[in-house]
Amino acid sequence: MARINQNYKSLQAGYLFPEIARRTREFTERNPGVELIRLGIGDTTLPLTDSVIKELHNTVDRMADANTYSGYGMEQGNLDLRQALVKHYKKYGVYLEPDEIFISDGAKPDSANIQSIFAPDSVIAVQDPVYPVYVDSAVIGGKTKGFVDGRYKGIVYMDCTEENGFFPDVPKEKVDLIYLCSPNNPTGTVATHDQLKKFVDYAHDNNAVIIFDSAYASFISDETLPRSIFEIEGAEEHAIEINSFSKLAGFTGVRLGWTIVPHKLQVEGTAPGEVQALWNRRQTTMFNGASNIVQPAGVAVLSAQGQKESQKLIDYYMENAEIIRKGLNDIGIKTFGGVNAPYIWAKALKGYDSWEFFDKLMSEAHVVCTPGSGFGNGGEGYFRLSAFGERENIKSAVKSIKENLKI
Ligand code: MLT
Repeated sequence: MARINQNYKSLQAGYLFPEIARRTREFTERNPGVELIRLGIGDTTLPLTDSVIKELHNTVDRMADANTYSGYGMEQGNLDLRQALVKHYKKYGVYLEPDEIFISDGAKPDSANIQSIFAPDSVIAVQDPVYPVYVDSAVIGGKTKGFVDGRYKGIVYMDCTEENGFFPDVPKEKVDLIYLCSPNNPTGTVATHDQLKKFVDYAHDNNAVIIFDSAYASFISDETLPRSIFEIEGAEEHAIEINSFSKLAGFTGVRLGWTIVPHKLQVEGTAPGEVQALWNRRQTTMFNGASNIVQPAGVAVLSAQGQKESQKLIDYYMENAEIIRKGLNDIGIKTFGGVNAPYIWAKALKGYDSWEFFDKLMSEAHVVCTPGSGFGNGGEGYFRLSAFGERENIKSAVKSIKENLKI
């Protein structure tokens, strides 16, 4: 008889964002006519840029012509796009080979799927609070053994607190895979060179691999902060990097990302190139490549003109972040992040846990946030606002919070 993967039953509640959508829907049903301003999920709102639109039209036209139509492409992605990324990384002093880059349909699936090339009993370390995908995919993969006091046994949680500036110390114990996200989702903080170097050294000493999620790297304006883990000496032997066009160019619905698995990356019992070859094997077996309509648009994003246009989107969202931060600070709410990242992490009012504050903000100010505890125990007592909204909505949300939130 067929049986389900019982590990799914170990997952706590629903995935965070559908859960927020469910609660929001219920509120709207109970309060018809109330317009909610949604600053919960980090979903982009500005339209695609001119260069992207032009290239999308071109590719659709090519697909409509028998002479230029194309079917399956390379599972690893179009060479043009990978070469454009090689060039993009050179700006940060990072030198890659095109076959170290694997084009994907976004960072989220890769950040979960990457676990499958490592031993099923690998011990995973995550920042807490944490983007839920890393943890939930570990649970689904059977890497955890029960849920106690809000944490999965078998996962090593690295506390990110106000005291440590929301960046953790290296684990005290030996772990195999370490997820780091910088600029961080949800706290909006960015790791420095020194902080990342400590993790690279830890990975070196413990034969561990860092899975570095840099999906928000394009929001870093401080030139002293690293945009890639590969800016850190020695990282190509110990890290994988996952990134995306979603937030960089408004591709949340278009879907395009990339993962870098360096040739030099080695784990126990492997020679250089073997881990890269394993991810290649995984992708060629289970993935048929990103859409051939979309990939040339990725090349357009990375062109000089495309980057100028994307920068405008980023600047717009970062101005939103400034409006939110200032508005919250004006009424005495303490905020973090939102300077080199599009997320504002804020302290819930005294006496409220994250979900209670979520309800209060929704019922009094009609603003939807993301409750911090949805990102793990470490997020309890905090909430996250996304700066990806439209300007008028951002302004209305801040105005409403100032006028209607009972403090
Ligand atoms: C978020 O709100 O954390 C992100 O939009 C979710 C995602 O990128 O999957």
